[in-house]
Amino acid sequence: METQILQVTQIEKAAAILRKGGLVVFPTETVYGLGASAWDETAIKKIYQAKGRPSDNPLIVHIADLEDLHDLVAEVPALARDLMAAFWPGPLTLVLKKSQKVSPLITGGLDTVAVRMPSNPVALALIRSAGVPVVAPSANLSGKPSPTTDAHVIDDLGGRVEAILLGGRVTMGLESTVVDCTRDIPTILRPGFITREDLLAFVPGVRGVTREVDPQAAPPSPGMKYRHYSPKADLVMISGRVSAGRVKTLLAAYQKEGKRVGLMMTSEILEDFEGIPVCDLGPDKDLAGVAGGIFSCLRQLDARGVGVIITRSFPKEGIGVAIMNRLEKATSLTIEEEGGKDL
Ligand code: TXA
Ligand code: MG
Repeated sequence: METQILQVTQIEKAAAILRKGGLVVFPTETVYGLGASAWDETAIKKIYQAKGRPSDNPLIVHIADLEDLHDLVAEVPALARDLMAAFWPGPLTLVLKKSQKVSPLITGGLDTVAVRMPSNPVALALIRSAGVPVVAPSANLSGKPSPTTDAHVIDDLGGRVEAILLGGRVTMGLESTVVDCTRDIPTILRPGFITREDLLAFVPGVRGVTREVDPQAAPPSPGMKYRHYSPKADLVMISGRVSAGRVKTLLAAYQKEGKRVGLMMTSEILEDFEGIPVCDLGPDKDLAGVAGGIFSCLRQLDARGVGVIITRSFPKEGIGVAIMNRLEKATSLTIEEEGGKDL
């Protein structure tokens, strides 16, 4: 398939492709999305094919105006209204009871649907111009880190979709926070930039959930059971206090085994390293910057052909919860203490 590369001045053209059942990759403030019309089942099936994604992992429906909700959801609980008022448009996805009209191909057969109103102006203009809600997973090949620049989507999906709408580098770089509003207690299914503390300011009692709570139970979000974001290299995480000394010891051990090693670290640590592939996540005080840099760094280091990427952990507070959620999903090995574990 030939993929049309479109500029932001060509939103109308992209919208027409969506309306006719084509796939269009478009920028959002979080990551790029791989869009299709929510009302076109043939197009929705093509999303799963283009990504190589299992079809029981449901999709987020993107809307541009609150009126678009009526066709999609059976009811909007008061707490969901409060969250929409506070955080939409923006990086928050709400899981609600679905309407009859929503295809089971979108929801993986669940009776709920995930909805989000992105804040990226290109995304909003595209959805409005298409005149349909737009289902879109992140626009990466399944298993690869989510795409944060248009170069990433061209790499992954060039030749597999009708069009790619260019939008440069996204502003945030990490997928939206997903909150299930259908339970008695609203529950965070995927942490993101909008933290539990942010949500608590508007809705009391929001809880975070991880699978560790009950490993036997079915995952509350199908997405939780998949290992995401794996770079080609093995990602090794130093947990707890990180220092240039700890990194050097580990680096030397892998190099002795003949491995080509890259570092994905905060700026402070990287001051001490030269002559090896590194990707700087920025200062460790800027957690939003760190969160937004992870996917791009994993891709950059993969492109440089390293076999091992050494990274560090972050405290699980605020945005740190989202950072650790993504890092833990990508990590092959965690080094707990200095010299504590075999390589
Ligand atoms: O920021 C984002 O959310 C990006 C941009 C493109 O909007 N999209 C995105 O989509 O990350 P995706 O498909 O990669 O992730 C959707 C997540 C998955 O973890 C999925 O399991 C969950 O949302 N999800 C979707 N519908 C759900 C539902 N009805 N109930 C529970 N979880 C659901
Ligand atoms: Mg994804």
